Amino acid sequence: MTQSLTIRRPDDWHLHLRDGAMLRAVLPETSRHFARAIIMPNLVPPVVTGAEAAAYRDRIMAALPEGHSFTPLMTLYLTEDTDPDDLAAAHASGLITAVKLYPAGATTNSASGVRNFDTVRPVLERMAEIGCPLCVHGEVTDPEIDIFDREAVFIDRVLDPIRSTTPGLRVVMEHITTSDGVAYVRAGDDTLGATITTHHLVINRNHILVGGIKPHYYCLPVAKREEHRLALRAAATSGEGRFFLGTDSAPHTDPNKESACGCAGCFTATNTLSILAQVFEEDGALDRLEAFTSLNGPAFYGLPANEDRITLDKTAPSYPDKIDTGDGPVTVFDPGFELCWKVSGDQLRTIG
Ligand code: DOR
Ligand code: ZN
Repeated sequence: MTQSLTIRRPDDWHLHLRDGAMLRAVLPETSRHFARAIIMPNLVPPVVTGAEAAAYRDRIMAALPEGHSFTPLMTLYLTEDTDPDDLAAAHASGLITAVKLYPAGATTNSASGVRNFDTVRPVLERMAEIGCPLCVHGEVTDPEIDIFDREAVFIDRVLDPIRSTTPGLRVVMEHITTSDGVAYVRAGDDTLGATITTHHLVINRNHILVGGIKPHYYCLPVAKREEHRLALRAAATSGEGRFFLGTDSAPHTDPNKESACGCAGCFTATNTLSILAQVFEEDGALDRLEAFTSLNGPAFYGLPANEDRITLDKTAPSYPDKIDTGDGPVTVFDPGFELCWKVSGDQLRTIG
């Protein structure tokens, strides 16, 4: 049995770092293990312009602990007023790596997102021209559509029409949660990829609702039936280049999660790699972990894979249940099983 696994240092292709005290507390949880991450722009107010992305990148770099090496890959938040010239300049200078599409009202801080997809067509055409990828939160917001069907309906009503009217546009379906998402990505061409989160490989909707409501398992898109979780696991562990890790690690303080109207988001940055190693081992796919965490993402984005390596050892890691932030405690995702893979060199941290 494999006792130690060395892989190229991973990247996270979908991450929420927030700002201020929260940023300072959660950034080390990612930069300890990951070399790069696509940084979500859903701050309040959102990161809409190149100037705002540059300022946010500077705040992230200022929050990076001594001795950590980490590159934030910045994104712009697409609005109906996005200026295509500003976007193109930010992309040409290397400041941004992608643009994020939130349907208005779909999730946390998405109020400035897109209501009418026709209004952003010129921006999407420009992005196709310059080769700037679009990261998509793929859920419709139509109140008539059941929350568990919102991803599948988005594919038919929004995503497929966008892709056929904007040929060449590179699209990442973020955090896919359904077998419909997996099938759509597999059926697409090389312009289409998808991120899969750690938590959607581990939980289904029963974990949220059976035996009492578990606010720390609530995220968007919400976890679906078991058959969908199994489809995601098969996709992630397949090694297929279209699927790569985007944790969607999304910190909210405990009072904001454990509330009558709790926020969506699972905070997985801390223990993601230990969880993934176990998932891949269980599925007999440890030899494909590196493709999912470290190779497929850079290949899709046209970036080199990282040169440095990390080693995972078959030994129980010790992670805190919560981390302390200046804004309050943030609960670390509980996979519901004892972890048995540890990132070599990981320091024991104080439990917050
Ligand atoms: O669960 C989620 N949390 N899904 C999202 O799309 C946004 C994120 C957040 O920002 O908290
Ligand atoms: Zn997200």
